[in-house]
Amino acid sequence: MAGRIPSSFIDDLIARSDIVEIVDSRVKLKKAGRNYQACCPFHNEKTPSFSVSQEKQFYYCFGCGAKGNAISFIMEYERLDFVEAVEDLAKQYGLEVPREKGGTPLKSQEQRNEREQDYELMGKVARYFEYQLKHHKNAPQIIDYLKNRGLSGKVVKHWGIGYAPQEWDALLSKFGNDAPAVERLLALKVVNQNDNKRRYDFFRHRVMFPIHDKRGRVVAFGGRIIDDEGPKYLNSPETRIFHKSYELYGLYQSRQANRKLERLMVVEGYMDVVALSQFGIDYSVAALGTATTPDHIQTLFKSTSEVVCCYDGDRAGREAAWRALENALPFLQDGKIMKFLFLPDGEDPDSMVRKIGKEAFETLISEAKPLSGFFFDALIKKHSIASIEGMAALKAEAMPLIKQILGENQRTMMMAQLKKVCKEGDGHDYDADTKHANKHRKIKRTDYKSPANIVLSPLRMIIRLLLESPRLASSVDIVNPHSLSVDKISGLSMLLEIYDYCLRVPNANTASLFEAFREHPHIHHLSKLFSAPIEDNIDLEAEYIACFSTLVKWQVNARLDELMAKQEFELLTQDEVKEITALLLATDS
Ligand code: UTP
Ligand code: MN
Repeated sequence: MAGRIPSSFIDDLIARSDIVEIVDSRVKLKKAGRNYQACCPFHNEKTPSFSVSQEKQFYYCFGCGAKGNAISFIMEYERLDFVEAVEDLAKQYGLEVPREKGGTPLKSQEQRNEREQDYELMGKVARYFEYQLKHHKNAPQIIDYLKNRGLSGKVVKHWGIGYAPQEWDALLSKFGNDAPAVERLLALKVVNQNDNKRRYDFFRHRVMFPIHDKRGRVVAFGGRIIDDEGPKYLNSPETRIFHKSYELYGLYQSRQANRKLERLMVVEGYMDVVALSQFGIDYSVAALGTATTPDHIQTLFKSTSEVVCCYDGDRAGREAAWRALENALPFLQDGKIMKFLFLPDGEDPDSMVRKIGKEAFETLISEAKPLSGFFFDALIKKHSIASIEGMAALKAEAMPLIKQILGENQRTMMMAQLKKVCKEGDGHDYDADTKHANKHRKIKRTDYKSPANIVLSPLRMIIRLLLESPRLASSVDIVNPHSLSVDKISGLSMLLEIYDYCLRVPNANTASLFEAFREHPHIHHLSKLFSAPIEDNIDLEAEYIACFSTLVKWQVNARLDELMAKQEFELLTQDEVKEITALLLATDS
């Protein structure tokens, strides 16, 4: 891994770039009042609801809620990940992306050329296998095999499926012209060397599935036997360009086929991905002969918000599903959904989709079991909750898992469900946070539903106003959220983080603010808040001050309540009496 990109560079990049220019070069914008407009590139529409603000350096779609800064736009539009988008943007301004020390040192130009040549060679090898599928003397046999498996010529071509010749040195003699070329073939593990230094092709007489990375470069292969004995599938071992816990077969193609990926389905095999795509289900991916790893889950949730894991209904399938569940918990932000689809015994997605067709298969997908359901079903099956001992065992297993769930709402609801399962009326203090936050009855928690339903509490309104105009933090100094107390005002810590950022970065704008909080666990709250409309002619500063003084009043009242309640049971100290007097005076004014 290269070192991190310094955040100062990213700030600088955002400050330097102009979102209007960046969007306009891809989607023609029209001036509309203070902002610019276009039909949204992220959903289908006839009337423009996509708006770009030059002042805020931010875009927002009133239709689908897409929003972000220059980097997010490039990520979404060009389907790049964060680092790729930063590199892309930097390139437009002729900047070299610096890396912090600590990672592996900056790649030299020479190393980069080396990698380029790796990708180029792998591409050539893939094309060579495709060519062999048509021209090798065994080609008719292989084509028969593929036909028998029900694959169309079109889908074979789409997936670049090929044939690795039976000979021991077909690839070696084609591409191993000189010593450096042989070295490269060995390094990329398409050629092997035995103890006697004899070299031979790694894949022989197999149907070849090229594996692409996210940018569409061939980085590895999977090869299926046709009639030999030997392992059914042979996969490329790890190389300097291939890390199998990272890559997913079909991810590149899924992202290409869908501008917006509503969901991704994880299946077990190459053949499953290919067959599904032949039937028009073009959003499935397969792990490469490994279980679904945490890296996979992270990658999946970067591309979509719903992941459906499809497994055999047998024991092995359920075990694999449970492992995927465990790996997913730390990445389950609120808004991210994981589901499980279990197929009847003996079926895989390939056989199933051929049997029942696209529509019925998609019905199965839409009825897949949510993670929560699978979680409790599996635990109840495992532990007999008819006894206290069984219940205790279930709880012991469930608690540490639930605690790992990233999303606060999902975590809280799973805890609540656990209580229900254990039939605990009174309940222990599982989720002290939630209770604590609800303690001050005067501070109502507002739940986020759809953006239109947001009712902004004063605290949220302050955050909303800072998102709109970060300058408020430094220009209105009578508002100081640090004078509030974290135990009296729930949600204060988020406000403090944002406020401090706005103070620290004097020319912050909406775009840079979102950038700074991109990885923040509560960024989705910010996003949702940002979609709450602010009236055009509102006096931002007056509103900002008014909300703050409401919070101060709340805090005073909460403290008063506390002291009054105490007074009913015990004598107040001298200091407390003084405090109560001062507070009463304050509430009068
Ligand atoms: P399956 O045995 O389910 O194969 O293995 P499949 O994909 O359904 O293939 P067909 O239909 O028999 O042709 C699922 C996946 O597990 C990995 C491969 O990635 C395969 O696609 N696998 C399987 C291996 O890596 N090695 C093996 O020997 C078998
Ligand atoms: Mn199969």
